Amino acid sequence: MRIAIVGAGSGYLPGVVRGVLHRADDLRGAELAFHDPDVPAMELMARLARGMLKGLCDVTVHPDLKTALDGADFVFTTFRPGGMEARHLDEAIPLGHGVVGQETAGPGGFLMACRSVPVLLDLVEKAPEDAWIVNYTNPTSVVTDAVLQRFPGRRFLGLCDQHVGDTEMWEDLLGLDGLEADWIGLNHLTWADTVRRRGVPLDLPPLLAALAPPDGGATPWRDPSRMADLGRALGFLPNSYAKYYFFHDEVVAELRAKGTTRAQDIIATLPRFYAQVAEESYKADPDPSRERGGGEHGEFAVDVICAIARDEGRRMVLNVPNAGRAIPSLPEDTIVEAPCLVDAQGARPLPVGDLPLPVRGLTQAAACYERLASQAATTGDRALALRALMAHPFALGKARADAILTEGLAAHRAHLPQFG
Ligand code: G6P
Ligand code: MN
Repeated sequence: MRIAIVGAGSGYLPGVVRGVLHRADDLRGAELAFHDPDVPAMELMARLARGMLKGLCDVTVHPDLKTALDGADFVFTTFRPGGMEARHLDEAIPLGHGVVGQETAGPGGFLMACRSVPVLLDLVEKAPEDAWIVNYTNPTSVVTDAVLQRFPGRRFLGLCDQHVGDTEMWEDLLGLDGLEADWIGLNHLTWADTVRRRGVPLDLPPLLAALAPPDGGATPWRDPSRMADLGRALGFLPNSYAKYYFFHDEVVAELRAKGTTRAQDIIATLPRFYAQVAEESYKADPDPSRERGGGEHGEFAVDVICAIARDEGRRMVLNVPNAGRAIPSLPEDTIVEAPCLVDAQGARPLPVGDLPLPVRGLTQAAACYERLASQAATTGDRALALRALMAHPFALGKARADAILTEGLAAHRAHLPQFG
């Protein structure tokens, strides 16, 4: 089995290698074909991977993308065109206009889609026709839509591990372990009103009504206090990213007061992170930090690959077309995030219910935005780009959408060939 890894110099790579180790028995003898335009970072991660995998898998490095993709059975994509510097702009530009600045939500996510889509379309064209492309590049649902609109029927899956950590956060909040939630909606905009504990359905509304929001405890990924508040108001579970919609103005004030973007905070940690990876890579038993991506990110991706390769018929939350209208209130060709059955045929969304009414309209509006964003990112049509931002549930208004777009397209022009 050959697995191409595109973005192999990324800080998430150590977590991916841990994922491979956790499925060692299933992946013995596989080749991991690394590609990254940052060759020194890729070489570093290759040395680390060889030390961690110790002959379990072959690790090869390919400065040329096509060479990495040739003969691949799986292509795992985890890259960010423009790197963290571009992410800083995605976060800072909207904030300058009084709008949440976030790498995937809102106009920041739109700009990231515009950079990611051309690179992914080129990659899909170069990849073997029958390879499974397992994609983490964000915004995962918009780029999945762009790829499948351009190449209908291609084997392309959108990944996000958010639901893993979010389910754990709800276990902590509710004081219950062993929860399984049916997260449905769009990527970073999912909801769960059906939750089971060890297979037994929970009566959620009274449990949520009794929740006392904890003080503090917020991390860059989760905000348990606001989530508890929101869960109580809605009567079902929201994804962590719901805070950008339901606490928009409070988050803007916080981001402004904070003074640095998340990208800047990460950039400040990267030299130490890569130095630590380099140090580990020369050890007999490398044990790199889990700082980027934690454990779940890499393990989840490798589990998806194994579920397909081994025809496991496993239930996993993925981003796929809404086949058979598994979510009845969204169109059949919308890329939804939903529990799927994953086997050698790929991933099919399971019909587990519909979007709860309080968030149905919001989610439908976001789906309209995502389709427009995917079309704008594919074509480089500025009029479409403006319509996409005007359709976004942040309700930017026309003048503000236009101003953010002008600034964003200019700031990122080196990465936006399609906008001319
Ligand atoms: C979560 C999201 C990912 C996102 C990541 C950012 O895991 O699901 O889509 O890329 O957070 O984390 P970071 O540490 O880069 O802010
Ligand atoms: Mn995600």
